[in-house]
Order: sequence, then C-alpha cells, then structure tokens
Amino acid sequence: MAKSPASFSCSQCGAVHPKWAGRCDACGGWNTLAEDAPLATGPGSRTLGGARGRRIALSSLATEEAPPPRAGSGMEEFDRVLGGGLVPASAILLAGDPGIGKSTLLLQVAASFARRGLGCLYISGEEAPAQVRMRASRLGLSDAPLRLGAETSLRDILTTLDAERPDLAVIDSIQTLWADMVDAAPGSVSQVRSACHELVSFAKKRGTSVILVGHVTKEGQIAGPRVVEHMVDTVLYFEGERGHQFRILRAVKNRFGPADEIGVFEMTGAGLAEVPNPSALFLSERGQSAPGSAVFAGIEGSRPVLTEIQALVAPSTLATPRRTVVGLDPGRVSTILAVLESRCAIPFTGLDVFLNVAGGMRVIEPAADLALAAALLSAREDVALPADMVIFGEISLSGALRPVGQAENRLKEAQKLGFSQAVAPERTKAEPGEGMRLRKLPDLVTFVGEMFGAG
Ligand code: TYD
Ligand code: MG
Repeated sequence: MAKSPASFSCSQCGAVHPKWAGRCDACGGWNTLAEDAPLATGPGSRTLGGARGRRIALSSLATEEAPPPRAGSGMEEFDRVLGGGLVPASAILLAGDPGIGKSTLLLQVAASFARRGLGCLYISGEEAPAQVRMRASRLGLSDAPLRLGAETSLRDILTTLDAERPDLAVIDSIQTLWADMVDAAPGSVSQVRSACHELVSFAKKRGTSVILVGHVTKEGQIAGPRVVEHMVDTVLYFEGERGHQFRILRAVKNRFGPADEIGVFEMTGAGLAEVPNPSALFLSERGQSAPGSAVFAGIEGSRPVLTEIQALVAPSTLATPRRTVVGLDPGRVSTILAVLESRCAIPFTGLDVFLNVAGGMRVIEPAADLALAAALLSAREDVALPADMVIFGEISLSGALRPVGQAENRLKEAQKLGFSQAVAPERTKAEPGEGMRLRKLPDLVTFVGEMFGAG
C-alpha cells in the first residue's frame, strides 16, 4: 500500500503544512513544525462509493430523558465554573502557568469528590506518589479515599482506568503522557493529540469524567495542538498574577454551562481557599480615594464583581511614551486613549500611561471602558473621583456611551458594598435602589464635563 504523505503540524498554532519549514506561515513561530506520525490509516484510495451504510436512528429534540445528574464537589467556586457540578462522562481541560496551583486545585477537588462517595483516581505524570501524599497531608486531605498513581504511559493508564472504572480521573498532565503507537516525544503535537483523543473517547465510552491538566506556552495558549480544545467539553484556565495570592478559575468553553463564569480562590499556606465574595476582596486593599483610581462594576459570568482600575500618568522621557497595561486589553486602552484625544481634545502625547487592575484580576468586558477612561482622566488631571462611586459603560468610537447588560445586578452589588453613587450610559434600563444616586450620561464629553469641570 502506498505510504500516506507526511504532514507537519505547528506546535504553537496547530496549522498543518505539507512540507517542513523553519518558520510556520500561520503564526510566524520559528522551529515549531514537527512531523505528524500517521495515526490509524483508514481505507486508502477507496471512496465510500455506492455501498450502503447502516441507517442511523434519528430522534426528536424533545426527549423524556432527565438531564444527567451533576455531582457537586462541595467546593462552590469550582462547581459553579463547571456550570453547577461535574457532568458524568465529561472531559475537562485545565490550563495554567507553571506553579499557579493546578495540581493543588485538582488534588483538593478530587479529594472533595472522593469524600462525597465518587470513585476518584489521581494520576500524576509529573510528581512521585510520595510528593503528592506530602502535599495532601499538608492540605489535610490524607483521609480522603482518593487513589493515587504515578504513570506516563497512556496504554497503562487506559488499562488501569478500564479495570477501575472510576467516576473521575485526574490526569496531571497531558504533556507528560506518551502513547507507544506514536513515534514522537512526549509533549509533541502528535502525542498530545492522541493522548487527548484516547482519554476523551474513553470518557465518552465508559462514563468516566476526566480532568486533564494542560501546560500553556509563553503566550498563554494551551501548549500543543488547538484541536485539544475542540475535543474536550470544557476548557478552564487557572490564572493569577505572580506575587498575588488570588487565583481565578475561568471557563472559556463549556458545553454544559455558561462560559466566562469565574471562581475565585486565594492561595494560602493550607492550599486554595474559596473566596465567596470577590468584590469585597478586590476592593479590600483600597485606601482613601486617590487620583487615578476608579471602581468598575463588572459582571463575570453570572456574578457581579467590583474591581478597582488604577492609572498613573507621568511625563515621558521617551520618544514613544510607554503604555503599560496589566489586567486589561491593551488594544482597548489604545482605542480609549484615541477617543479621548479626538472626541474630547484631551491628548496623552508625551505622557507615559500605566494601567492596572487591583488584585491581579483580568477584566475583558467592554463595559469597563468608561471606568478605564475615568481612571485615566483622574490620573491625568490629578483629581480624585468620589470614593463612593462606581462606573460602568461601553464607549463607542464616536465618544457616545453605550448601555451594557445586567445594569441592575451591577448597581445592587455596588450598593451591597456601600457605594452610593453610580455613573452609567444614558439608555441604561435600570433604576437604583433606595439611597443610591445614578447619573446617566449620553457621551464621554458630558462625562468629562461633569467629573472634571470643563476639562
Ligand atoms: P502547584 O499546584 O504545584 O502548581 P502547578 O501544578 O500549577 O504547577 O502549586 C505550586 C505553588 O503553590 C507553589 O509555588 C507553592 C504554592 N502552594 C501554596 O502556597 N500553598 C499550598 O498549600 C500548596 C500546596 C502550594
Ligand atoms: Mg503541577
């Protein structure tokens, strides 16, 4: 039989190339192409032809079957991110920077599930059982009926899973696994792809839920082929700033629940502690109102979260002034600087701009635009905003303010935390509760006039 033509995949973006090259055309990465080992080759040259297949049983959308029961781990923050608990036979990928606490989180989660009567296996390809046991005893989990294994051979892991049939298997990590039928190093595109494929198929066939740990690249993407993210049901990112104790678990894809849901944890000496009220935590370090600080009333998934946006504006000595942004989208920041300059005639030329979200939180909502502009203006004018004020709203390129969703929830959360003023776009359809003053403004120019005088 003719050998199937070789193909090469980029280990960064997963693009497939017919020939090897030093540089990937798709993402521009250097030395990232590796030859794909052929997987099982189906019938080569034959087409489906006229031979008939089996008729598929078709069904209607309305089924009498009850939705699958979800298992709760007892860790509320984790269960909510999954969409209300673990769905049987689901495949979950947890990605995050090294040392962020993935192994710690999953050990705690698996132990919680095991204590609630689920059969759980924790298979580590990175640490020896003694290391995992040591961590478990530090976390006070030694009594949980969780079974440990240290293995990297995919074949042995699948055999074990098949014999044990656990309800949940944690595999730490997908990049350490190697399948003997694939002729490539562990962590390479073809190894990661086949390990993920085998484990996900096992989960679907046998009803075991699997949680796979995935490493991320320097750019923050899951290392290995992009298809891994398509194969699994749920993709979770565990993120946090180095030096901060807060960790945020974010669902970026979820077939069984809302995406963009977050769970907030705090890394303590005894493992990860849940943070049921993140707003209070993110604002706890806030002192008296100072120039450059604005409180944004945001929504993360189904939950309102207040965060403090901090800005510093200083004369620059550089030909191209600095734009240092942590926790916000730099593209969005440039857009707002441009809108301030061209619609409100407030230039930032010759000024260094530093922006930060307090507590290591990452804000991706466009609703943060107005709070971001407020922080920038407050820093530039050296005028503090009222300490009891929250801000939300999207800024369009014309400088108009656009209303955002869930205004009611934002206002309620702000009031709960003791704020008594809010600024929002004009067409916001929400009324504040008793004792809260809401100012609805049509555009950025009016906002500048109201907050900082004529500018
Ligand atoms: P780990 O779960 O090993 O990270 P990952 O699997 O994502 O690489 O977490 C390692 C870090 O967590 C390590 O730097 C120490 C810290 N840590 C604590 O602060 N407290 C604890 O109780 C534990 C277990 C870890
Ligand atoms: Mg680890």
